[in-house]
Amino acid sequence: MCGIVGAIAERNITAILVEGLKRLEYRGYDSAGLAVFSSAGALERRRRVGKVSELERALDGEPLAGRLGIAHTRWATHGAPSERNAHPHFSGSDLAVVHNGIIENHEELRSRLKGLGYVFSSDTDTEVIVHLLDHKLRDVGDLTSALKATVAELHGAYGLAVISAKQPDRLLAARSGSPLVIGFGHGENFLASDQLALRQVTDQFMYLEEGDIAEIRRDSVQIWDASGRPVQREQVQYHEGAEAADKGEFRHFMLKEIHEQPSVVQRTLEGRLGQQQVQVEAFGPQAAALFAQVRNVQIVACGTSYHAGMVARYWLEEFAGLPCQVEVASEFRYRKVVVQPDTLFVSISQSGETADTLAALRNGKQLGYLASLALCNVGISSLVRESDLTLLTQAGPEIGVASTKAFTTQLVGLMLLTLALGRARGSLDPAVEAELVDELRRLPARLGEALALDKTVEKVAELFAEKHHTLFLGRGAQYPVAMEGALKLKEISYIHAEAYPAGELKHGPLALVDNDMPVVTVAPNNELLEKLKSNLQEVRARGGELVVFADRDAGLENGDGTHVVHVPHIIDALAPILYTVPLQLLSYYVAVLKGTDVDQPRNLAKSVTVE
Ligand code: G6P
Repeated sequence: MCGIVGAIAERNITAILVEGLKRLEYRGYDSAGLAVFSSAGALERRRRVGKVSELERALDGEPLAGRLGIAHTRWATHGAPSERNAHPHFSGSDLAVVHNGIIENHEELRSRLKGLGYVFSSDTDTEVIVHLLDHKLRDVGDLTSALKATVAELHGAYGLAVISAKQPDRLLAARSGSPLVIGFGHGENFLASDQLALRQVTDQFMYLEEGDIAEIRRDSVQIWDASGRPVQREQVQYHEGAEAADKGEFRHFMLKEIHEQPSVVQRTLEGRLGQQQVQVEAFGPQAAALFAQVRNVQIVACGTSYHAGMVARYWLEEFAGLPCQVEVASEFRYRKVVVQPDTLFVSISQSGETADTLAALRNGKQLGYLASLALCNVGISSLVRESDLTLLTQAGPEIGVASTKAFTTQLVGLMLLTLALGRARGSLDPAVEAELVDELRRLPARLGEALALDKTVEKVAELFAEKHHTLFLGRGAQYPVAMEGALKLKEISYIHAEAYPAGELKHGPLALVDNDMPVVTVAPNNELLEKLKSNLQEVRARGGELVVFADRDAGLENGDGTHVVHVPHIIDALAPILYTVPLQLLSYYVAVLKGTDVDQPRNLAKSVTVE
């Protein structure tokens, strides 16, 4: 994912920019660059494909010094990773821009600007911004006014940083769909896409809001909101607790990570949604052409990531019309696999270093798949390096061994993939895509509502304190959610837990049901609800105690031996993401009651890099 750093100061800021880029390296990128307003009164730029260390080497050879500058790590979307596509992009020699996000109307703008005589030197969508800005500047003269006029014509997502050799008293920023934060120093100010990049120079931050434009000078900052009104945004001091490696106010990392889900899901969506569509380019410059050829999908993963893959199978078949197989990597890697023509190989992994998943990818590459795509949380991982395409989840570091926020962000990534594949193949109704894009936008808020069930679930957890076994039931895409619920419970509370598709109950597990075997069920209000209710009757008739996570309109209420937790209403397609949250809370509180080591359960490792 792209990263932005900017600075305006009285000292040389080149080293600050480079250090900022290094701090953003974990997000993954393929090239890096910076532009500085030098003492010679001109903008000078260095760009390199590969690591920030390559850029540093270039700067060692040809040093750059200046008091105003912008820098960027690029994750290719439009145009392959190359020096000419790396940011900053220039218009003439006086204007430089770095950009995170995707400009949807770049083709139309490009042809208009070409008509005006602008010559393009890259394949990026970003270059239209800088030429359009130059064009506006000719009309209005003032850089800030020109930026306001420019963003008014951009459709899509952007976080922008802009500098000009003609008006070197300011660093400009604009935010729509991609985060930006201003860092305050003494007689110097900074800008970045993530405050992490600026922790070296300040602990005072101000987050821009959607539609904001900021004019950052050495000793002042002025902000206008989306309607052009001057606004004040709150200045906040960085607290240690805000850092991922700190539990903050929470008792365990797992609880903290469960509560981070609204914000990390938001981050995973950022820059990837257009007005009514998923941005296919978020999967890389070749994605649109490749996706159009896909006729089949093979998913491999381990543990929790495997469960995410199982949910995706329901989505891919329903919304993209694509046959999909899902297999645990440790089985796939040793099996003689028959590869269907035009199959996309998808690996899912939080760490990107799981030995079985990596081996499955390496084997897969010998087997003639159309292409490989990694859905991963670590940009610099082996899985990402070795795959043709990548979608990074933005869960941030996950410390608890039992995966929580990584899972929900994987599900979000897989829904984006489903929609992107469905559209590229022409098999997805645009109205359905528009509705799902809308619902995805609302998902962080819904997750927040599900987290409000915290205390209710904590109470329900008491039922499990003395139990040794639990059954989890789900139907359709909620079956893998039930599997993930069972995995969480066994991982951290050491209670034996099994998940079954509810329809399988009477084919075996019903024999186990008595008043010592609680049965946990996920029951969104969908066409399978009536069938699920019959399954619940089967359990109650045998004295089994029921815990049901149900839509408030599902017609399920508390009763004798039946404990119902009402989950906020959500469109059925996204229910697997929402229903995961109370199940995570349930395992967490059961483990706390049992006094186990929640964050580091016995015998388990976070990243299994050996077989
Ligand atoms: C280990 C972890 C699990 C994780 C699995 C796959 O077993 O304990 O939480 O789901 O590995 O890890 P990955 O990093 O590939 O998603």
